[in-house]
Amino acid sequence: RHALLPAKDPFSMPNALKLGFGPFTAPGRGVFVVFCDEGLKFGPATRRALGGVTDIVARAARSERFTGKKSSTLDLVMPAGLKATRLVVIGVGKVADLTPKDFLRLGGLATGRLPNATADASIFAELPGGAMRPEQAADLAQGTRLRAYAFDRYKTKRKEDEKPPAVRNITIAVGDVAAVRKADIPRVAISDGVVLARDLVNEPANVLYPEEFARRAGALKKLRVAVEVLDVKAMKKLGMNALLGVGQGSTRESRVVVMRWNGGRAGEAPVAFIGKGVCFDTGGISIKPASSMEDMKGDMAGAACVVGLMHALAARKARVNAVGLIGLVENMPDGNAQRPGDIVKSMSGQTIEIINTDAEGRLVLADVIWYAAQRFKPKFMVDLATLTGAIIVALGQEYAGMFSNNDQLAERLTKAGNETGELVWRMPLAPEYDKMIDSKFADMKNTGGSRWGGAITAAQFIKRFVDDKIPWAHLDIAGTGFDSRQTDVNKSWGSGWGVRLLDRLVADHYE
Ligand code: BES
Ligand code: MN
Ligand code: ZN
Repeated sequence: RHALLPAKDPFSMPNALKLGFGPFTAPGRGVFVVFCDEGLKFGPATRRALGGVTDIVARAARSERFTGKKSSTLDLVMPAGLKATRLVVIGVGKVADLTPKDFLRLGGLATGRLPNATADASIFAELPGGAMRPEQAADLAQGTRLRAYAFDRYKTKRKEDEKPPAVRNITIAVGDVAAVRKADIPRVAISDGVVLARDLVNEPANVLYPEEFARRAGALKKLRVAVEVLDVKAMKKLGMNALLGVGQGSTRESRVVVMRWNGGRAGEAPVAFIGKGVCFDTGGISIKPASSMEDMKGDMAGAACVVGLMHALAARKARVNAVGLIGLVENMPDGNAQRPGDIVKSMSGQTIEIINTDAEGRLVLADVIWYAAQRFKPKFMVDLATLTGAIIVALGQEYAGMFSNNDQLAERLTKAGNETGELVWRMPLAPEYDKMIDSKFADMKNTGGSRWGGAITAAQFIKRFVDDKIPWAHLDIAGTGFDSRQTDVNKSWGSGWGVRLLDRLVADHYE
């Protein structure tokens, strides 16, 4: 019934990047990338490799007014005296001001300066004071991997000058090769998780519908993640009518996927991550306007993040018990679709009056969060959802909205956000907002009636399905999950937002 485009292995890097580490030797070809500080100082190995070219660099810098300021660059084509075809000098500003996340950025910046045709590049991971530390060099490599990502599997035609080489070889020259390779291992796991999440978000909804999404999550089994798929029959039996109501207007069947990674002590309560996976959100009978509706293929970014995170945790063998649960549906208008005014009974037993079928994400989360808490009694729960346009109005694309019933969890997430650059801003919860979703006919309604505080009333709705004894945070990622802010480490529409944040949360506090 559904014509399918071939699905590729979701774990393959879309553009073949071969990244390796080696000693500081001047490259024999390709692009040569070096770093200097404000004041144009290079490290000793860089100076040695540049040799007589240092003089030309100084002259070029003067004429271009390049002073080595943070994120500034200077390009020299065919520099006489070097075998490299191009020299890229990147300023890092003041070395003393560099923070850990700056090294990730520098890797992204360096990769972004490589011309399309580049088949070979060598990046010297050195600062004026000497080789970058192993973690810093490995962060640089991770930045390179994240920046190199491109979702181009559906492009069958390319202009000659836009064609990438079949393989891009990037060598990062470092001080202690063995130490950097070791520091790189967990970072590869994490960037693979980000790439997986990006791929899922970028896929169109004719390819990635609930069943196909579940199938792709099944690939985590290779990493010893236990993957279970609940079909419609199983969900009916559990009473997940809030979720099923959203999916009933689609010819694509709904699914819930449960992923378990047991890297911690046997029997220890897991941490839980729950994702909204609306594979396409038309709005249903409360249908959305046509403009930008195509973006709603990304309405599963929360679920994509959870799958990417489970990949990261399993691939780096995190010493933690973690569960990931995703609610996969397609929200369509149809003869069988849910109507405004319908009342459904959620798995928790609470009844919901559907006011607006476009407020569907909270209905999906209500049942999945309830199920996760009942079944796993987790240490904490974090849910991620592209839930409301209102959070974009409030915070734009820089911060995700965070709502939490627990100050410690909120603080930990804020800190992990500052460390990784995946920022969260805490928003309020309060009984005054909760009142706004009381219903005349049922226990609650699925929208607040007014658009004011729309992200908050959505969070209040979810809170009604959370046991207050369990620390919980809800991340509204409508502004960060797709069509996202372009950064030095992300040029993708689907950002894979949240994988690095939550991996860091786990690494810092729960391993
Ligand atoms: N998936 C949308 C939210 C969204 C909008 C995400 C734009 C990213 C970009 C969600 O299901 C939705 O439609 N929310 C409504 C809620 C309203 C009907 C109460 C919204 O934000 O308008
Ligand atoms: Mn919607
Ligand atoms: Zn939605």
